[in-house]
Amino acid sequence: MNYKDYIRVIEDFPQPGIRFKDITTLLGDGQAYRAAIEEMKAALKDKQIDLIAGPEARGFVIGAPLALALGVGFVPIRKSGKLPGETVEASYDLEYGKDKLAIHKDAIAPGQRVLIADDLLATGGTIATTMDLIRQVGGEVVGASFLIELTYLNGREKLDGTDVFSLIQY
Ligand code: PRP
Repeated sequence: MNYKDYIRVIEDFPQPGIRFKDITTLLGDGQAYRAAIEEMKAALKDKQIDLIAGPEARGFVIGAPLALALGVGFVPIRKSGKLPGETVEASYDLEYGKDKLAIHKDAIAPGQRVLIADDLLATGGTIATTMDLIRQVGGEVVGASFLIELTYLNGREKLDGTDVFSLIQY
């Protein structure tokens, strides 16, 4: 399937000069959405995965169906102030702007093997922070899987040599 046909590029959103990759058009097509998740799952077949972690909000729409498809649990990484239990938090820079992410301290048992899933790898800031949070609570990061990778932003370089898979590249 040519997934790029299902992704809409919106110029100058959320600010001038950014060519936003809008995945809502792919999500809105049941066949394309399912095919994308199935293909991401197939790329993970040799990995032992205990949990999937995905950062809010678009990481949920990729990470949760991937977790269901693999039959493993899902750990939400949320923006600061949203998780009700005891958390660990970390700040990070985005392609545009700044934010803070949090994880529940007890979300991962020591040594559990965690795959990170998200819609987009851009600068890598979100995922570097997510990796940091997973490790702080005792998890082992075994890879990161993305619907889209913006290769020209070199996000992989921020990910400590972690095994990275992306379905679509720009
Ligand atoms: C977007 C996207 C990734 C991240 C990629 O999330 O969903 O998580 O940015 O950028 P990076 O590689 O430069 O860190 P955003 O923070 O916009 O949140 P959203 O999913 O809630 O829209």
